[in-house]
Amino acid sequence: MPGTCSHPVFARVYARLAPAMDRAGAAGHRRRLLAGLSGRVLEVGAGSGADFPHYPATVTEVVAVEPEPHLRELARRAAASAPVPVTVVAGTAEHLPAADGSFDAAVCALVLCSVPDQGAALAELHRVLRPGGRLAFWEHVRAGTPGRARVQDVLDRTVWPRLAGGCHTGRDTAAAVAAAGFRLAPVERFRWPDTRLPAPTSPHVLGSAVRA
Ligand SMILES: C[S@@+](CC[C@H](N)C(=O)[O-])C[C@H]1O[C@@H](n2cnc3c(N)ncnc32)[C@H](O)[C@@H]1O
Repeated sequence: MPGTCSHPVFARVYARLAPAMDRAGAAGHRRRLLAGLSGRVLEVGAGSGADFPHYPATVTEVVAVEPEPHLRELARRAAASAPVPVTVVAGTAEHLPAADGSFDAAVCALVLCSVPDQGAALAELHRVLRPGGRLAFWEHVRAGTPGRARVQDVLDRTVWPRLAGGCHTGRDTAAAVAAAGFRLAPVERFRWPDTRLPAPTSPHVLGSAVRA
């Protein structure tokens, strides 16, 4: 069905992990991601709605797009107790169900790793934001050392996307945001989780970019 994609096993595992991820630091990253947003916000790939509790009161409305049916249902339940009005709809980042320039801000949390066509998704986000609108993103990205990046490339060509709902570990997402016509603000780079042996998904970026 258009606007949906089904990853039933990944969706159930991810939804169960979400509270533990929040306790391990994700909740803090979500709060920093959403701080300072205002007006109408489009959240893409909202998952089970883990961002919803962290929207500031300056946000008047959130439209949350989620293609996976199980996660979408969980997001609908989470929307009921969100501190701001949230409407959850089916759709994909590559074909956003929204008019040109109709949002003040857009949010991607751990999503641009999973969209099948990152360039098309960013072009759509650019289309639906008003001029001067802000794209806020928190994503795991390509490693900064060639050896680790090579491991990511091998994983991305083989097992990782199949095991992790289409996720890719080695995308240079901040560069892709800039290439899509956004003006990047300084990006925070960090490892999460910050374990001694880094996971392929440890390098993270958190930042925002303005639709020029
Ligand atoms: C790792 S989960 C992150 C969920 C949530 N944003 C969070 O922070 O917990 C990746 C999400 O991207 C969604 N996704 C995958 N392909 C997508 C697409 N083409 N368009 C929009 N969302 C997509 C998945 O359904 C899933 O909800």
